[in-house]
Amino acid sequence: MPFEIFSDGLNFKMTMNDTKQRPIGVFDSGVGGLTNVRALMERLPMENIVYFGDTARVPYGVKSRATIETFTSQIVDFMLQNDVKALIIACNTIAAVAGHKVRTIAGNMPVLDVITAGAEAALQTTRNGHIGIIATSTTVNSNAYARAIHSRNPNARVQSQACPLLVPLVEEGWLDHEVTRLTAREYLKPLLADDIDTLVLGCTHYPLLKPLFREEAPGVALVDSAITTAEATANALAEADLLNTDNASADYRFYVSDIPLRFRTIGERFLGRSMEQIEMLSLG
Ligand code: DGL
Repeated sequence: MPFEIFSDGLNFKMTMNDTKQRPIGVFDSGVGGLTNVRALMERLPMENIVYFGDTARVPYGVKSRATIETFTSQIVDFMLQNDVKALIIACNTIAAVAGHKVRTIAGNMPVLDVITAGAEAALQTTRNGHIGIIATSTTVNSNAYARAIHSRNPNARVQSQACPLLVPLVEEGWLDHEVTRLTAREYLKPLLADDIDTLVLGCTHYPLLKPLFREEAPGVALVDSAITTAEATANALAEADLLNTDNASADYRFYVSDIPLRFRTIGERFLGRSMEQIEMLSLG
């Protein structure tokens, strides 16, 4: 129960403070959502965070809507058991096909997602109204980014490109590698031909390729949804009076459904710092 209202004012104040101490729940299909955790740690250093990455069942980006919805419900139940005060859907694919499901289960709790934040940031960034989206196949097929952008500005021109090869290349650590460069160049061709001036990195893994995208798409502004989601989270928590402003040392807990080979190395690359405690649990 997020807010218990007591008749006496002191108890009410104490309960609100307890609520502010509760963690933010961040989840993803795997390790990539740690780019969001990293942005959150920088933007909101006093917030406690619980992260879940479904590393046993990743990738979601090629799975059906029904399967992703089932997995997502299990993750959200786990987050609610952890008494989170807000949820962040760090995975573009989950946000694209199961965002409504998360919001239904979460009720009144603030739910932020990378697609809403990315769409808004893209519209604020573009000058010529031509926006390119790169994402997984499931995200592109859902048309979720285009819908989110057009519901805010029907005149924007949106072109989406699925880039299924980029996730494994990033996981391999080939961030500055000729194979990744040629692959990205090929995927970007139709978008650049359409004269986009803004490119949304619509997948958790792509922010790690920013330097490469800057070179392959010169003059195009890159929208990193991890940063914009952290900003949107700060605004939503402030609005709901849930910002934690009294926490000397934030608590970070990382849960995954499998600890594959090189998990820690890859995770720390996404997070930009060491992961002290990683726990494994299986859902479903
Ligand atoms: N987290 C996914 C996304 O942002 C990428 C990895 C996957 O396919 O599960 O779309």
